[in-house]
Amino acid sequence: MSGRYLLRTFGCQMNEHDSERIAGLLDARGLERTDAVEDADLVLFNTCCIRENADQRLYGQLGRLRAEKARRPGLTVAVGGCLAQKDGADLAARAPAVDVVFGTHNLARLPDLLDTAAASDTPVVEIAAETATFPSTLPAARDKAHTAWVTIAIGCDNSCTFCIVPAVRGREVSRRAADIVAECEMLAADGVVEVTLLGQNVNSYGRDLDGRRPLFADLLRSVDGVAGIQRIRFTSPHPKDLRPETVAAMAECETVCEQLHLPVQAGSDRVLAAMHRGYTAARYLERLESARAGIQDLTVSTDIIVGFPGETEADFQATLDLVEAAQFDSAFTFVYSPRPGTVAAELDDPTPVEEKEDRYRRLTDLQGAISWSRNLELVGRDVEILVEGPSKKDTSRLTGRTRGGKLVHVPDDGNTAPGSLRTARVTGAASHYLTGELAG
Ligand code: SAH
Ligand code: SF4
Ligand code: F3S
Repeated sequence: MSGRYLLRTFGCQMNEHDSERIAGLLDARGLERTDAVEDADLVLFNTCCIRENADQRLYGQLGRLRAEKARRPGLTVAVGGCLAQKDGADLAARAPAVDVVFGTHNLARLPDLLDTAAASDTPVVEIAAETATFPSTLPAARDKAHTAWVTIAIGCDNSCTFCIVPAVRGREVSRRAADIVAECEMLAADGVVEVTLLGQNVNSYGRDLDGRRPLFADLLRSVDGVAGIQRIRFTSPHPKDLRPETVAAMAECETVCEQLHLPVQAGSDRVLAAMHRGYTAARYLERLESARAGIQDLTVSTDIIVGFPGETEADFQATLDLVEAAQFDSAFTFVYSPRPGTVAAELDDPTPVEEKEDRYRRLTDLQGAISWSRNLELVGRDVEILVEGPSKKDTSRLTGRTRGGKLVHVPDDGNTAPGSLRTARVTGAASHYLTGELAG
């Protein structure tokens, strides 16, 4: 195997992290990366199936590749990730351009599957039901020099009725704490200063390990002890499993950032029950309140779904009320998308699409205003930023992130290297970013 590969990633942070491993495997085989389809000998798509539009984007791109393949019969197309894990051979049948289909549980097999495909006239499909090894053991080609993702668990044992992830990623498997700490040490030695711990529900970390330990809180303390790692983030904790121990560890450990992504999904108790989330709106707000009481200057973000089957105007109003009460710094908002195979996909859904879109717009308008007012509260304050590098839009400015995860743009002073921790004085705020000046 030789030549150039193009790798496109469609999904969440776990999916992006898997892409780093896919790239690592191909780099180790001597392939070179390219961003242009015309230059690629191999095109790889790492897919997502969380919402229908992700599926459509993928099949659209595969359709366009068919013409490219007709021009260059030597081009190889491989599809991995969650949609591949879910659809397997159906994917190859539906998209004739595809030569290799691999899943989320067998990334390590990719180089061999590509070799097999080179000698085969028919598509090679291999999907594993269980993970033999954590992808973390594979070589990685990381996108960023100073920040890194670290997988702490894969899979999910919850049963949110709208969600396809448990069907795709399987049961939750926690990684041994010693392996996680060793990876963080290796990353620190490689110049990484910030790690983001990844799992579908990080709070249930350790439940499947011997003695049901360590707890997530213990893991935070262990990673906090890794020399050179100056910031720890994690995503996502499930609100029903957010324990006081976790909040205490966040408050105590200096390197654990004051940032919490706590997906609420809805504000109506009826809808939350139908979603099988395991908490009420009041319980959620209580948990959020204790987290804010325990951790000074906590930045909070969330995920919200609009238009779950049977959501009424009154239910939606309860979501707006919760958003108003919670004062999130930011929210990822989605219109509900039925996923075949999930419980919710079988429910009656009489609400017209236009109504859902109208609710969506009302929600994003409200959250946009709240995000802006939360950011305005920071104007005049000094914040620590981890400098990422020149801003994409304006290269005379540098971009960095606060401990809370907020984006800050500052004028470049000419001697601030990416990866430095600097103090910035916040001078302005928009709903999605802050502006400031380097200080000190
Ligand atoms: N494990 C994470 C969520 C992963 S999916 C957690 O529980 O925090 C990320 C987000 O996608 C979810 O929080 C939810 O808001 C959204 N989502 C999941 N399934 C969806 C669907 N069928 N339609 C619309 N949004 C969905
Ligand atoms: Fe999906 Fe719920 Fe598991 Fe998150 S916790 S991955 S939303 S089933
Ligand atoms: Fe992530 Fe999408 Fe899979 S959100 S876990 S890539 S279905």
